[in-house]
Amino acid sequence: MIKNQWYAIASSKEIKKNQLFSLKRLNMNLVLFRDNHNNINALIDKCSHRGAALSKGKVQNNCIQCPFHGLEFNGDGNCEKIPALGNFSKDNLKRFNIQNFLVKEQNEIIYIWYGNNKVSSEIPFFEELKDDNFSMKEITDIWNTHYSRAIENQLDVIHLPFIHHNTIGRGNKTLVNGPKTIIIENKTIITSANNEVDNGQKPLSPKESKIKNTFLKFNFPNIWLNHVSDNILIFIFFAPIDDENTKLYIRFYNKITNFKFINSFISIIGKYMNNIVQKQDKRVVITQNPKKSELKIKENLLQGDLPIIEYRKIRDCLQKGGFYG
Ligand code: FES
Ligand SMILES: [Fe+2]
Repeated sequence: MIKNQWYAIASSKEIKKNQLFSLKRLNMNLVLFRDNHNNINALIDKCSHRGAALSKGKVQNNCIQCPFHGLEFNGDGNCEKIPALGNFSKDNLKRFNIQNFLVKEQNEIIYIWYGNNKVSSEIPFFEELKDDNFSMKEITDIWNTHYSRAIENQLDVIHLPFIHHNTIGRGNKTLVNGPKTIIIENKTIITSANNEVDNGQKPLSPKESKIKNTFLKFNFPNIWLNHVSDNILIFIFFAPIDDENTKLYIRFYNKITNFKFINSFISIIGKYMNNIVQKQDKRVVITQNPKKSELKIKENLLQGDLPIIEYRKIRDCLQKGGFYG
């Protein structure tokens, strides 16, 4: 994982009021709950008494009550009550406090801050999606690979005529021009496919290629956008479960017509079609060895892999706490 980042980890609709939601993210077992003010709290899913999973307990007094011996923890992870000690115990509670995580809920996404006390005020998202005219439908899938591999796949323009030969990669456009790849600050990568049928021509260099109307955009640490057109967008956030598993939240947006209900229907069709495309990717990406990508792994990369090379460089820099110029 990259430290000091807001990670998109779940969809708002997954977290219901007064219910505990257990999920593994960023290699940690977490428990989430909505409090009375509708704020979401995230705690380590392990009781500080004798290690039971808090997610098996219940929400009580705006706290999580452990199912084992009834200790109660508020959203900040502070232990508020130890029933066995009675009400005298107030002073002793502190040592039972557990780790909590800062949470933001925006864009129908739950983000958690993975890092130190210098919390960034910038929540990763794409401006293009902030338009109420869009209808959005979501589908999720779990891939048995590290999230870096799942992200790289979405920046990969070479694979289109092979993995997607009968869907989005039809037309045998195996020759890869560029692709032109733009880096903004040290967090955004923009690229687009410039593939052509191979008639014996030399592939254009990244400089000679251009960003087309259909382009891809990635924002660190884990959100991606396919700008199919101004009216159709596909958005994915890649929630890291652990080093070998990732949950993809795939959202299809459209505002093709002026009628919300028609757009809503189009988005339902869109999400299922998109699911077919993602399943084509998944079948192969989960076989990549090793499961986690790194800047220095033994792979022979091509010019067409440029967006992936840039992704690896920036990720490496951010992991080391540095900045990529
Ligand atoms: S293990 Fe949680 S209260 Fe005992
Ligand atoms: Fe693909």
